[in-house]
Amino acid sequence: MIAVQEKKKEIIEAFQFRHATKAFDPTKKISEEDFQFILETGRLSPSSVGYEPWKFLVVQNQELREKIRAVSFGAQGQLPTASHFVILLARKNARYDSAYVQQLLRDVKEIPEETLAQMNEAYRSFQENDLNLFESERALFDWASKQTYIALGNMMTSAAQIGIDSCPIEGFNLEKVTKILENEGLLEDGAFGVSVMAAFGYRAQEPNRAKIRQSAESVTKWIY
Ligand SMILES: Cc1cc2nc3c(=O)[nH]c(=O)nc-3n(C[C@H](O)[C@H](O)[C@H](O)COP(=O)(O)O)c2cc1C
Repeated sequence: MIAVQEKKKEIIEAFQFRHATKAFDPTKKISEEDFQFILETGRLSPSSVGYEPWKFLVVQNQELREKIRAVSFGAQGQLPTASHFVILLARKNARYDSAYVQQLLRDVKEIPEETLAQMNEAYRSFQENDLNLFESERALFDWASKQTYIALGNMMTSAAQIGIDSCPIEGFNLEKVTKILENEGLLEDGAFGVSVMAAFGYRAQEPNRAKIRQSAESVTKWIY
């Protein structure tokens, strides 16, 4: 019981500790082991119907970071100072019948052939009828992108739990960042698109104010 209380306290402290860090101490690097731990919490994250439609690009090349910085208003302080900088890519075609999904189900999840046909039909109906994902390429891509935000949240929280700072980043020009990564051959011939970014490191300075959030009452509604 005491162990659980302790754990809850630690977790809430980590949530209070995490803040959108604008600039990192460039002299402090996250250890290889700690960064692998953060990535592992991304990899182990849940995704809708288990498709894992993501890839985590860890951009350590300063030249590439500078190119991205030129088109990312929200990462001006983070890109040059972050110990590790991640671009979360999302699959553009996470359709039930895509080569990627079929290979994932067969080779990684080892779904037996006799179950596969049933599963494909169920997921077709889910994607097509329930979520209307085939309405546009954008709808399908945004659905995959949503999944990457779960990994993003988990990576930031796990980082905070071991005293590592982070900043989620959407402040970039999607078209321009896509072009840059395309030119570098990092989008695997259009299989991936850019979803969101995250910078990790150690804060250069303490945040200038405590965390502010709306009250629990105003963001929660209980229906009995
Ligand atoms: C998806 C997402 C994108 C964000 N993009 C940026 C960004 O581009 N640059 C930035 O400095 N902060 C960015 N933020 C940070 C938010 O502004 C910040 O989380 C929010 O104001 C709450 O503050 P806190 O994280 O310090 O508690 C982003 C946050 C999220 C969740």
